Amino acid sequence: IGRNIHYVESVESTQKIAHHYASENAPEGTVIIAEEQMSGRGRMARKWHSPKYTGIWMSMILRPNIPLSNAPQLTLLAAVAIVQAIEEMTDLIPEIKWPNDILINGKKVTGILTELQAEADRIHSIIIGIGINVNQKKEDFPLELQEIATSLFIEEGETLSRAELIRTIFKEFEKLYTLYLDQGFLPIKILWEGYAGSIGKFIKARTLNYTIEGKALGITNDGVLQLEDRTGTIHHI
Ligand code: BTN
Repeated sequence: IGRNIHYVESVESTQKIAHHYASENAPEGTVIIAEEQMSGRGRMARKWHSPKYTGIWMSMILRPNIPLSNAPQLTLLAAVAIVQAIEEMTDLIPEIKWPNDILINGKKVTGILTELQAEADRIHSIIIGIGINVNQKKEDFPLELQEIATSLFIEEGETLSRAELIRTIFKEFEKLYTLYLDQGFLPIKILWEGYAGSIGKFIKARTLNYTIEGKALGITNDGVLQLEDRTGTIHHI
């Protein structure tokens, strides 16, 4: 991961560039990193605030030989890699919120957006977009985000080297990815559940089409959340 890096100052979205390189068969592990995104994309058609020089805005191209339905596993793997990298570089205790937000003290510090290029049911490329709020001060966030978002700087009280954090993420990601290709999802699932704050708790799971409330039981081997509602019915989300 990261042996082939495209570094750009300002882009619309690193996802868009990654899709372009992926269609041109860029090697696996290619990463696009931007200093700023003018229209950073979030999950569920939301925007991702990506101001200049303060965060990590990057997209990685992967081409694992796995069934299409296993693609969500890689998002969970990315979340684990980022949590481990943050733990390595700070004294903070990050928590994963299903499916792949990383929170510190209850506020969001990282979002992950996974997109696919597939033909029929064969994966051509998986593009994992990672946004990490690193050195923003509270007032750098738009007002509507100040209560729900945070940065590593706000929580740790120290400026962090983004380059070093990126290197640490590549290292952790590559370790987990090798383990995953070798042994499958189980070891990743165990790590993920260890970092997930919501397992065993009542949560609201929101998808594009519906919201379900219930107790988060865990994730299945495919990386699907199991939620038990009040009637005891188990939903796979
Ligand atoms: C979320 O909604 O939580 C996911 C946010 C993902 C943001 C990252 S920043 C780098 C990459 N490029 C984008 O436009 N989005 C992702």
